[in-house]
Amino acid sequence: MSRQFYITTPIYYVNAEPHLGHAYTTIIADVLNRFYKLYGSETFFLTGTDEHGDKIIAAAQKYHQTPKEYVDRISLLFQKLWPKLNISNNYFIRTTDEKHQETVRLILNRVKNNGDIYFSEYEGLYCFGCERFFTERELVDGKCPDHMTKPEVIKESNYFFRMSKYQDWLINHINEHPDFIRPERYKNEVLSFLKEPLEDLCISRPKSRLTWGITLPFDDNFVTYVWFDALINYISALGYPDGEMFHKSWPSAQHIIAKDILKPHGIYWPCMLKSAGIEPYRHLNVHGYWNINQGKMSKSIGNVVKPLDLVDIYGLDAFRYFLLRDMVFGLDSEFSEDALVHRINADLANDLGNLVSRSLTMAQKYFKGELPEPAQPESADEELKNDSLELIDSYNALMKELEFHKALMSVWNVIGKVNKYIDSMAPWTLAESDMERLKTVIFYIIEPLKIISVLLWPFMPGSAEKIQEQLGLPKKGEEYRLKDLHLWGNERPVRTMQKGKSLFPRVKTKKKGFPDKQGKKDKTAEEKRRLISFKEFQKMDIRVGTIKKAEAIPGSKKLFRLTVDTGKESTVVSGLKGHYTEDELTGKQALVVTNLEPVKLMGIESQGMVLAAKDGSGLHLLSPDSVVSPGSPVK
Ligand code: ME8
Repeated sequence: MSRQFYITTPIYYVNAEPHLGHAYTTIIADVLNRFYKLYGSETFFLTGTDEHGDKIIAAAQKYHQTPKEYVDRISLLFQKLWPKLNISNNYFIRTTDEKHQETVRLILNRVKNNGDIYFSEYEGLYCFGCERFFTERELVDGKCPDHMTKPEVIKESNYFFRMSKYQDWLINHINEHPDFIRPERYKNEVLSFLKEPLEDLCISRPKSRLTWGITLPFDDNFVTYVWFDALINYISALGYPDGEMFHKSWPSAQHIIAKDILKPHGIYWPCMLKSAGIEPYRHLNVHGYWNINQGKMSKSIGNVVKPLDLVDIYGLDAFRYFLLRDMVFGLDSEFSEDALVHRINADLANDLGNLVSRSLTMAQKYFKGELPEPAQPESADEELKNDSLELIDSYNALMKELEFHKALMSVWNVIGKVNKYIDSMAPWTLAESDMERLKTVIFYIIEPLKIISVLLWPFMPGSAEKIQEQLGLPKKGEEYRLKDLHLWGNERPVRTMQKGKSLFPRVKTKKKGFPDKQGKKDKTAEEKRRLISFKEFQKMDIRVGTIKKAEAIPGSKKLFRLTVDTGKESTVVSGLKGHYTEDELTGKQALVVTNLEPVKLMGIESQGMVLAAKDGSGLHLLSPDSVVSPGSPVK
């Protein structure tokens, strides 16, 4: 196994905000990155945003922003989200970075100089959602299988990448490296696709149709096809061609993606690399979809779950644990809040939380938090020791094979064994009869806890470090190495053991009310209390207003005084400061509640309220999706 480990996520489109699917992929990459740190590898973890293409133009127009303003704003949402999910990426790449664009031009020139780019006229079926041409046989009932829309016939002259030339090479490469694409079902899918003749890839878009992209270095009238641009991020981020990181990390590259983008990663990308004279990546790791009510969770369908909504309610580590424990890598999984609550209560609060809490209570009570010296072990002690040490190896093997749910199950198997050991040894009875034996028993309870905390660190870094802290261990988190864990009892706590606050409090009721598996909404008592009648709702007068002027209110950190045209001119004091600048607000349209009783804020009478959506990244003004006359009622 190489000392280097390079892991990437897809670079996400900025045409919508991050959702649970993006969080899942990025958390897997984080778990693997942390695992390989424990393994002793030098790791590099890359994520980022994909910012060119038709979709961006359309999304920017919707918000009355320039493409650059728009991509800056949404990319920032991803950049701000990842630290909140404890994502340990080393770098965040954006395809609008100048350095990336330079690398794209360099690769284009290189591929062209190899004779692999030619100019030709093409007529084809184009899906704007996927930003690519489709062949007839890829369509389902004449529609794009992902967007369920009919592709449009487009005829234009373009540049093509001679991908067909690499078909035989790719088939051989996949056959010679059986774990090049994994799990196997996706390798088979790619091989089955490659049974048909591979068509060349259209890699340009005429500027008459699209300007938001990287201009081809050999023809000013065209921009680069978004996938040809985006895939190159995986090497531009490493400083290709001369960067030290590239030479060091690229040979160990592993990509993580979902099955939606198997074809660009499994076919286009290896052919592009081959043509440019670069070794292919080492592994393409493909996972399934998080579904909701049997359909893919997707921004275009609008059924997304926002990660921070769950993290705010249930806690980050519970969320990370759930995603990795509930999905079998490679297969689809149905998201259910019930299942999340069940996992928290059963696995985290009951099994793990209880184990840590009662073990530390006993260590404190019987030995004032000092780790006692064990005497000669008995067979039950030896058995628990063997189970704990074997766990390190089985966990190791499962993690390398991306069998995260099984790795967690094997940890929980040992958690169950330690809990059983406690029950059958009954330390509380020994405390009255045999203090010598009690020393050994407590020692044999604490030692597996250390192993468990290290193995859980990739999944739940915060909680694992808390356990290590409570155990008084000299090292924390990434300072551990898996191989050292085999040295049973070699490490003494440097502080007395000290029980902390409950790691995973039980969840009494499901709080968020996401649809359950049957698609029914579960109405908690709290939700029912909050229901209002239609009559009450009708009382509200919400109108479209155009913000004529926005002025910061001196002495206030949050408030703007807005002059709004809602059919008549009114003053609204609004807490948007810090989320927008005066310039950004001026000219924008917003939804305004116009029949609220006036209130005085900072000495100014506010005659209404501007509506905004709030998420983890801040406030976002609610605006109609096209300009309408000020004063129009909201129905
Ligand atoms: O495809 N379940 O970006 P994207 C699981 N920019 N994972 C999901 C998911 C779901 N329901 N929905 C999305 C792009 N994902 C391109 C990538 S890479 C050079 C360019 C995750 O924003 C999953 O990782 O559409 C999927 O592959 C990715 O988001 C697609 O992100």
